[in-house]
Amino acid sequence: MPVSTAESRLVNAPPAVRQMWLAVADAHTDATRHMERLHAVKDADDYCQTLAAYFGWQDSAETLLLRFDWSPTQWDPRTLTRLDGLHQDLLDLGVSSAQQAALPRCRLPEINTLAEAVGLAMVLLGSTLGAQKMHRWVRDRLPEAPVRFFATPVRTSWRDFGAMTERALPTAQQRAAAASAAARTMHAFVSWAETWASGNVQSPIREEVKQVA
Ligand code: HEM
Repeated sequence: MPVSTAESRLVNAPPAVRQMWLAVADAHTDATRHMERLHAVKDADDYCQTLAAYFGWQDSAETLLLRFDWSPTQWDPRTLTRLDGLHQDLLDLGVSSAQQAALPRCRLPEINTLAEAVGLAMVLLGSTLGAQKMHRWVRDRLPEAPVRFFATPVRTSWRDFGAMTERALPTAQQRAAAASAAARTMHAFVSWAETWASGNVQSPIREEVKQVA
């Protein structure tokens, strides 16, 4: 989406959130382009590949997010997790838990401090803003497809998240670390999405999915 549109939405956001958005804005334009291609699904097989791409990202990102002790921020990172819905959508499409466990995972940047983890959390929360549109892209093509992952909102609001950033990132140095981590995370997502959108991933579920499609 155009940077100016996002900026107008973020005008009342805390400085740390605006700084993180500015750090990811260019990569976000690329992400949106790849998502549109990934969502141009023709059938259940295609849709499975799209969900498999999300799974590799979402599982890596949530696992890393939950590795940190968030108690000093008084914010619960579990309010940001969406893997359960994605797992269930894949089960509905015939991809077993064992097959899901064998899916390739997105390689994330080094995130070592809580300030950097806030940058990762920002990308996870931001990724839900486009979810309505992504939901529509799928629903218009495959009305019967399971869409829990896109349709279920997270349990944290931007207001709560913004308040958390003020507690977690009191110094300019921490805010810069968070923005840099957000940018590196967004770039990792973009490379991952680009690989999948160009069809360059041999997913282990392809054959099984063909049988249920
Ligand atoms: C993995 C990360 C992300 C993905 C896959 C993603 C994807 C998308 C997509 C596909 C759209 C719809 C674009 C369109 O209208 O054509 C969108 C919209 C948007 N994204 Fe992201 N995004 C991500 C991260 C972020 C981040 C970190 C932010 C930061 C705040 C953000 C802010 C927004 C906003 C404000 C919109 C507009 C929503 C609306 O019009 O209602 N996104 N995103």
